[in-house]
Amino acid sequence: MLKQQTLVFPFSVFAAFFLLASTTFHSVEAHSHRHASTVGRLVLKHQRKLLTQTEHGEISAASVTDRAKPPYHLHFITLEPNSVFFPVLLHADMVLFVHTGSGALSWTDDDGMQNVKIRKGDIYRLHQGSVFYVQSNLEAERERLRIYAIFTNTEDDIYEPAVGAYSSITDMVLAFDSILLQAAFKVPEDVIEEMMRASRTPAIIHAVQKEKMFGELQARVFKAFAGEFLGSIHNKKTKAYNIFEADPDFENCNGWSVTVDKKDLHLLKHSNIGIFMVNLTKGSMMAPHWNPRASEIAIVLQGQGMVRVLCSSNVKASKCRNMRYRVEEGDVFVVPRFHPMAQMSFNNDSFVFMGFSTSTKKNHPQFLAGKRSVLGSLDKKVLALSFNVPNATIDHLLKPLTCIHVYYTRGIF
Ligand SMILES: *[C@@H]1O[C@H](CO)[C@@H](O)[C@H](O)[C@H]1NC(C)=O
Ligand SMILES: *[C@@H]1O[C@H](CO)[C@@H](O)[C@H](O)[C@H]1NC(C)=O
Ligand SMILES: *[C@@H]1O[C@H](CO)[C@@H](O)[C@H](O)[C@H]1NC(C)=O
Repeated sequence: MLKQQTLVFPFSVFAAFFLLASTTFHSVEAHSHRHASTVGRLVLKHQRKLLTQTEHGEISAASVTDRAKPPYHLHFITLEPNSVFFPVLLHADMVLFVHTGSGALSWTDDDGMQNVKIRKGDIYRLHQGSVFYVQSNLEAERERLRIYAIFTNTEDDIYEPAVGAYSSITDMVLAFDSILLQAAFKVPEDVIEEMMRASRTPAIIHAVQKEKMFGELQARVFKAFAGEFLGSIHNKKTKAYNIFEADPDFENCNGWSVTVDKKDLHLLKHSNIGIFMVNLTKGSMMAPHWNPRASEIAIVLQGQGMVRVLCSSNVKASKCRNMRYRVEEGDVFVVPRFHPMAQMSFNNDSFVFMGFSTSTKKNHPQFLAGKRSVLGSLDKKVLALSFNVPNATIDHLLKPLTCIHVYYTRGIF
């Protein structure tokens, strides 16, 4: 378990880090961008691709890469209260996180139709080949149900961009001609004719319309096609894992951080995806660190912050640029494995982000500062020699930290 100190970062040590960075990493010239060269590692909210938009909700998508693997695909599904996202056939494994709101997730597996209630902070995973749909609750606070989903990218489960993450069940059924459907479903001609004649429904509709759309005849066809489709949302069988119930990896006056891997959540097994969340209170910093096992794909949930990502020292400047950017709610940023990073909130608000890490193996972030600093575990003499500074400087650098806020000033990041 990491000690509290890792999340704390007094200004003096911070300054020391940049001294450290400039001697250790070549090409420290930082770029403050929002332009093309960062596409793939930084996708701002307005750069997402809008896939569906109706008055009852929308779906947008972003693709990101850590340059080590094929791109990862994210979908952002937003449902207004009391709406339904219609059944789709999933083409890749999907790990999802519920940002706000509540509702129900329904899907098919070998045992038939399954159902789980979902609410803010829940994590769930669906397997490729399931048919699923989502319904949002009508809550008193009328909060929208917002789901962030990642489609996994393992060797035996390659996401095919041409096919997409999922396809509409209705489209798949209606692509066949009526004689074939009539034979397959063993229904009278007028049933199929009615379905063919009906106008195509949008991907997201109001729940009240659902009864109309899922009329008796369609229900029959759906049932035949995908099992017990119209299960009531009350027959809860499973409970989703909630990230707010997990024990933080560390927590102090500057915030907290939590990770969920396959040990915490069995459902994530063989998915290659873990989940993490960080809450930095006003004027705080996640101390410089890197991940030895996973790349991180982070989505900003609340507030704004600064993110700094450096290259590994042996990567050519043409292949990788040190980056520094400002992100806000809805932006996505990727930090590849082994790249040193630091995140910082501003003085006026918390900076909260969650993300998907590309491995479910235990991934202990390696911090540069604090009690558990990787530097602290090296021989002090060797360290003094390698930095070409007196012993006392290293002592000073590695002194234990206390809970001190870092005030954001332009010069820092
Ligand atoms: C983050 O921390 C702040 C301050 O403790 C708190 O007000 C806020 O609700 C937290 N945000 C989340 C998403 O937990
Ligand atoms: C918080 O501070 C940052 C940086 O000074 C500023 O850009 C941002 O607009 C402020 N946010 C709010 C909500 O005032
Ligand atoms: C640093 O400390 C080591 C012993 O701990 C000593 O041998 C060495 O002379 C010291 N170097 C300096 C520059 O103080």
